[in-house]
Amino acid sequence: MKIALHVGSPVDLRCDLLAIPVFEDQLRVGDMFQALDRGLGGLLGRLLDEEQFKGKKSQSLSVHTHGKMGPQRILFLGMGPRADFHYSDLRHVAARSVRSSRGITARAIVLMLGQGLDDERALQMASEGFFLGRYRFDRYLSAEDARKPDALEMATLLLAVDHGQEAFNRIARRAEITANAVMRARDLVNEPASEVTPTRMAAEAQKTADKHGLEVRILGPKECRELGMGMFLAVAQGSDQEPRFIHLTYKPKGKARKRVCLVGKGVTFDSGGLSLKPSNAMEDMKVDMSGGAAVISAIGALAELEVPFEIHAITACTENMPSGKAYKLGDVIKSMNGKTVEINNTDAEGRLTLGDAISYAIGLGPDELFDFATLTGACVVALGPHVAGMMTNDQSLADRWLAAAKLAGEDMWQLPLPERLKDMLKSEIADMRNTGERYGGALTAGLFLREFVGKTPWVHVDIAGPAHTDKEFGAIPKGGTGFGVATIVEYLSNHGQ
Ligand code: BES
Ligand code: MN
Ligand code: ZN
Repeated sequence: MKIALHVGSPVDLRCDLLAIPVFEDQLRVGDMFQALDRGLGGLLGRLLDEEQFKGKKSQSLSVHTHGKMGPQRILFLGMGPRADFHYSDLRHVAARSVRSSRGITARAIVLMLGQGLDDERALQMASEGFFLGRYRFDRYLSAEDARKPDALEMATLLLAVDHGQEAFNRIARRAEITANAVMRARDLVNEPASEVTPTRMAAEAQKTADKHGLEVRILGPKECRELGMGMFLAVAQGSDQEPRFIHLTYKPKGKARKRVCLVGKGVTFDSGGLSLKPSNAMEDMKVDMSGGAAVISAIGALAELEVPFEIHAITACTENMPSGKAYKLGDVIKSMNGKTVEINNTDAEGRLTLGDAISYAIGLGPDELFDFATLTGACVVALGPHVAGMMTNDQSLADRWLAAAKLAGEDMWQLPLPERLKDMLKSEIADMRNTGERYGGALTAGLFLREFVGKTPWVHVDIAGPAHTDKEFGAIPKGGTGFGVATIVEYLSNHGQ
């Protein structure tokens, strides 16, 4: 599918579908509506009244033009109140138009961006939506029909004002790179855990490295032992799958302006270990490597965009399984940075694998360190399923990060790291234990990770909620969402310079 820019009137533009985003109660604003209504002999206004189309969020109405104008169909897409507008709404609207074009096997669709929504960010979001809206995870559907790709060849953005083709080409390229990285992360998450094992994660990382010319370092259990990654290996020891520690490096052509480490939780399946999860809580636990998928995918995009920073993507990949070899409650484990940990819940495995991955990252001397982890159910209780929790030891870094998240349209909310809660992690026989009490579970997890960070500016993003969804929403399909990738790309290609 190609995406293009067209400046002019929608009436003569030949296409299978013309999608028009409409703010609530603003349908008749502007000349465009009059032109279309005239083209259809005044029927359009009547039809929209009859159907009570007001432009409410997620409302939509499709109208056939029966050869009376260029577009065969017009699809009105409700955007909700103008005052609530966020640029990422355009990503969702573009995805919605792509998706509804599938049923009519459209080859060419047009999305109209009027009403002041025609700046660079609008173009970027809408372009991303075109790509993201086509995403499907259908490789396990046996009916050929269900696996058939859509027929889309051309998706066009229609503007009233010209921005210049060159600017658009740059925006479109960036949108495609970002969307591809998001979809790559989705694929890795959606693939069953028996396919995406730690070894397979390493193979995927190798693929990314080959494609983008990254340095790659993959450590097996022996090398991890030599580095003293006791926590990571304790989690891994219950599984028949060998663990893999993955480290990808991107170096810019010139001198790097800063060094950034991106650490992702890479638990390819979380059964809970001996603190076994009940079946319903285990059902979705193939998503527990979403953080790892995000950093591996994002670094590929950053390399393609040739950002001027040195970037490291790190993920400690393992299963968390119960077995005769599994780590046990009451075990005392030595971490890579020397701290000892008493295990009081084997289901709090993420902070153990991440703790060692963070120690490794700190050894690289980063200026900034980010981690992304499906870490706690408590974070989902606190913020709901669509908002990530963010914790930090550096407010100015966090503010810049949250600004990027906002621009990228990914919802994140800061949570505190209250010193008083550190008491919950006290152990009688070790430096700390791996779980606190039930209340404040997302925060004690954050406090645990902080023990491995030291003074390096650090942002922790708990993505347990938004990493996957069971309800489609605009550009976000059911299943793995690729959450985090868009903000990483936004932050490192436009911000925090
Ligand atoms: N992977 C889970 C967290 C999770 C929950 C991710 C829901 C995605 C959706 C994590 O390893 C876990 O099991 N956390 C425990 C921590 C507890 C034992 C302190 C939890 O949240 O219950
Ligand atoms: Mn767990
Ligand atoms: Zn987990």
